[in-house]
Amino acid sequence: MSGAADKRLFTPGPINTSRAVKEAMLRDMGSRDGEFLATVREIRHELLRLAGATQSAGYEAVLLQGSGTFAVESVISSAVPEHGTLLVVSNGAYAERIGQIAARHRIPARFLRCAENAAPDIAALSATLADPAITHVAVVHCETSSGILNPLDAIAERVREAGAALIVDAMSSFGAYPISLPSLSAHFMVSSANKCIEGVPGFAFVLARRESLLACRDVARTVSLDLWAQWDGMERTGQFRFTPPTHALLAFRQALDELRAEGGPTGRAARYRTRHAALVAGMRAMGFVEHVVPALQSHIITTFRCPSEATFRFADFYERLSSRGLVIYPGKLTQGDCFRVGTIGRITEEDIRALLAGIREVLAEMGVAVPLRH
Ligand SMILES: Cc1ncc(COP(=O)(O)O)c(C=O)c1O
Repeated sequence: MSGAADKRLFTPGPINTSRAVKEAMLRDMGSRDGEFLATVREIRHELLRLAGATQSAGYEAVLLQGSGTFAVESVISSAVPEHGTLLVVSNGAYAERIGQIAARHRIPARFLRCAENAAPDIAALSATLADPAITHVAVVHCETSSGILNPLDAIAERVREAGAALIVDAMSSFGAYPISLPSLSAHFMVSSANKCIEGVPGFAFVLARRESLLACRDVARTVSLDLWAQWDGMERTGQFRFTPPTHALLAFRQALDELRAEGGPTGRAARYRTRHAALVAGMRAMGFVEHVVPALQSHIITTFRCPSEATFRFADFYERLSSRGLVIYPGKLTQGDCFRVGTIGRITEEDIRALLAGIREVLAEMGVAVPLRH
């Protein structure tokens, strides 16, 4: 054991977790053990509850080993049938990844694109959806590559009107924004263990309408990411088809208890909003400028433009902060030099103060003047 202290992770995940979440993993458990099967059952039930859904109302929760992308790929490659067409509403890298997944599986895809710091055009969406070839629409709720929060309700309404199946990538928003699957009429929603539910990495999950899952039967292009088979196996045996991430599931059960104790997504949103507001106020005071306007900005992650001074180099900035135990994230925009700061996970007000103080010190060391010029 190194005994090294955890760094403070201002990232989109993995994020800092509570001590109790980490301690929940100090047990080995068999994948067919009754207690483990009960844990899986509880988790599936609680995830549906968080999304305002129940099995009796026709919804199901499927857990999948791997990171969030595995679950996104599972949905895309299992849900869009041979003669289907996927429309990807894209204003960032995670939506573009959905397009890459479709291309790899030779699934016909169209794109409705807009700038990375702009909201999708709802009128243009309606016009695009007039094409009856489009059977499925994928949208990213919080585009974590910029921090923009897309207008999910308005998008869902248009998709419902058009009669297409809505697939929501809520990877970085589920748990931190109230989301109701029935109100959205979403067919599939994907998220993962180590974002706003504050578990550890190791698995992701899909919440879906049962009838949409049934329609996935024999559609999948892969064995391990066959969503219908994963669900069917879980329903019949209560188990995962392949080795489950037992420790991550135990941690997740604890994380779900903590989310409930905090008042669910509404309570958690209040905490993240406060952290985000403190971060932005402190960064603006130093002269930093956000890339996304406040009206579209989430409380998950914020993109700041890099200072224009020649002495500013992101790799150096990152290393100097990291050596102080403060981990930020590089930018993921195709245009513009920027970096990102996450405000999800177990970070405290004091952590935000420490980050702001660290940034101030590091800029001074690097000879970058504040206020910054753009
Ligand atoms: C919106 C969104 N989609 C997909 C992913 C991919 O998840 P993972 O890195 O766990 O595969 C992320 C990761 O941050 C994300 O934020």
